[in-house]
Amino acid sequence: MGIAYLKNRIMETQQRKKLSYDRKDWQRGYESQPQEFEYWIDEIEGKIPADLEGTFFKNGPGLLDINGSSIHHPFDGDGMISSVAFSKGRAYFRNKFVKTAGYLEEKKAGKILYRGVFGTQKKGGWLANIFDVKIKNIANTHVIYWGGKLLALWEAAEPHRLDPYTLETIGLDYLDGILQPGEAFSAHPRVDGDRLVNFAVKPGPSTTITIYELDRAGKLITKHAHSIPGFAFLHDMAITPNYCIFFQNPVSFNPLPFVLGWRGAGQCLEFNPKEKTKVILIPRNGGKVQIVETEPCFVFHHANAFEVEDKVFVDSICYSSFPSPDAEGDFREIDFDSIPAGELWRLEVNLTAKTVDHEVIESRCCEFPTLHPNKVGKAYRYLYIGTAHQPSGNAPLQAVLKIDFETGKREIWSAAPRGFAGEPVFVPRRNAVSEDDGWLLLLVYDAGYHRSDVVILDAKNLSFGPVARLHLKHHVPYGLHGSFCEEYFGP
Ligand SMILES: [Fe+2]
Repeated sequence: MGIAYLKNRIMETQQRKKLSYDRKDWQRGYESQPQEFEYWIDEIEGKIPADLEGTFFKNGPGLLDINGSSIHHPFDGDGMISSVAFSKGRAYFRNKFVKTAGYLEEKKAGKILYRGVFGTQKKGGWLANIFDVKIKNIANTHVIYWGGKLLALWEAAEPHRLDPYTLETIGLDYLDGILQPGEAFSAHPRVDGDRLVNFAVKPGPSTTITIYELDRAGKLITKHAHSIPGFAFLHDMAITPNYCIFFQNPVSFNPLPFVLGWRGAGQCLEFNPKEKTKVILIPRNGGKVQIVETEPCFVFHHANAFEVEDKVFVDSICYSSFPSPDAEGDFREIDFDSIPAGELWRLEVNLTAKTVDHEVIESRCCEFPTLHPNKVGKAYRYLYIGTAHQPSGNAPLQAVLKIDFETGKREIWSAAPRGFAGEPVFVPRRNAVSEDDGWLLLLVYDAGYHRSDVVILDAKNLSFGPVARLHLKHHVPYGLHGSFCEEYFGP
């Protein structure tokens, strides 16, 4: 091994270490936003497209501390809904907390009363937490407008209904009797034409998955439950015309540290790299479940899936193991190099041969995929996804990547060095003909001003930069998922 070789390796490492962001900038996007606002957005760079009509809703943790006591993980933060209502080239912003029972109780008490799934503990060490397994429905993961209702979703419990104009919380919603008290409705429904397809998971030594399909009016079309062997952590699913598809990650769950007050339930997951990931295909007509094994990987989110003859293709964001920060440390101090980055994989499931092949479509660190809503469950050409600024290594999302599956072409818009990107949502232009004729809406945290921007990108010309950048008067902490509906819910 020569000196030149070693020099090159050292230079490569240094190059890789040159970050596209300042860690302090990134950390400030995780400050709580306890205030609720509503106003016309008047500081705008560029022009809001006149034909962009409707409301962009976004959910995410609004509080990263309870009266100064830091929560352990952003996934434990109380849900706060933001809405941006677009009409005639103007935009109206609102944000409000989902007034869950737990949020109101903790606000009144001025302290943490509930343990979080991802490690938030009540003060007083393990003795204060032992045997306390009650859960706070934090309603922080997704928000959808369906069946005339605005619903804040969290995967382990019932939805909360909100007024789509004011974002005031109406209360827990049982979908007109579709759910019983205590039943969950996941945070990852998929819209297939006029149907909302969603699921609920009851994990245990064997896991029950219930599938729900609702029509546009919110009425139940089908509901069927299936038991699969083993514990399963299932955050998301993909759909095709015939299947609901889940990946049973090779993780085991030892609840003891949770029950004894040492750790959150989500911190008791252990990734087993010697075990396979199981692809679970549940027929949407309620038929027999098929399970096919593949390489071990960990998946939170699927991009899309589609069928070609006896094959099902599934595009997913795969991690080489469970990407969990250090159980004891502060998530803001995370060492990005120590946890795996998400990659986009395409899995080819052969239903006849019961085999799975996969290829890595994109190895650049990525999360939060989105696509044209009419292409859900179908063969598609374009995918948009949050990505890191640099092509290799794990890092915060600062950019949006467009992938053209037909030509292989990539296009990127980056908000680096001081901008941090959230999940993009694709909004088709009305009467659009081509699949990428529309906009991408996303919130970008701008550390330079400690505020967030609503960014509108032209999906056809991503790299040209934003069509409009709407400066909010404050920041919105990094969020999770959002959606767009064509109804205008502004003043
Ligand atoms: Fe998610």
